[in-house]
Amino acid sequence: MNEIRDHNAAVWARRVAEGNRWTRPVSSEEVARARAGRPELLLTPLRPVPDAWLGALDGARVLALASAGGQQGPLLAAAGADVVVLDACAAQLARDREVADREGLSLVTEQGDMAELGVFDAGSFDLVFHPVSNCYVPDVRRVWRECFRVLRRDGTLLAGFANPDLYLFDERVEPGQPLVVEHSIPYSDWERLDPAARASRLAAGRPLEFSHTFDEQIGGQIEAGFVLEGFYEDRNDPALCPLSAHTATFFATCAVKR
Ligand SMILES: C[S@@+](CC[C@H](N)C(=O)[O-])C[C@H]1O[C@@H](n2cnc3c(N)ncnc32)[C@H](O)[C@@H]1O
Repeated sequence: MNEIRDHNAAVWARRVAEGNRWTRPVSSEEVARARAGRPELLLTPLRPVPDAWLGALDGARVLALASAGGQQGPLLAAAGADVVVLDACAAQLARDREVADREGLSLVTEQGDMAELGVFDAGSFDLVFHPVSNCYVPDVRRVWRECFRVLRRDGTLLAGFANPDLYLFDERVEPGQPLVVEHSIPYSDWERLDPAARASRLAAGRPLEFSHTFDEQIGGQIEAGFVLEGFYEDRNDPALCPLSAHTATFFATCAVKR
């Protein structure tokens, strides 16, 4: 599904140019706190990842999966980890290089698809750090299987993902407007839109997204072989995400390859 990946990478390149929140590099102060052993990491919009989920980062081999933008990758590297940031968008990866050069950090960037991790051998990583981004791929079970393969035994997958209910509503609904159910779950932009509509969506800077289901998100991790050891809910600023005024809109899981 390279067409979907390339569409979404182009949208993220545009978001880099526009200064979208998830493309803005971390500050030197945040890097200094990470160097001092206090990295402030996000898998979901607002709630920090608990320290207990991260374990010892010094010397850990970490894959920051679909996680570019000059944020988590540099903070993990500043905390002492050997980091590879994999992302589909070159402009997003350039953000990670920018922070690494600015702060004298060592990290590797790899342009690729979160569902195709064949460049990495089995058991290459101690930790996969995967913030909300699997809404951009049609087959999330494939992502979980690949994460399981590239982790060593007892390695950890930390993942954020969206509440599928977000996709019941039109994405353009503004705060204060009524939330009217327009779609069913599972929802797929790819299946709903014809090629012309997809092209105009690209021109408008809007990605192709997939709601997924809890069967795919939670059941899929378990089917891949993971044991779920941690879970929390989060929400976004309701001014950006009106459903967040009513319910949790993002979730995070801590899964271990036992
Ligand atoms: C919301 S951003 C996540 C990164 C950000 N640092 C964060 O904290 O959320 C989503 C990322 O997914 C990437 N992406 C979209 N489709 C992808 C794919 N198929 N494979 C790898 N990365 C992809 C985008 O380029 C973007 O950098």
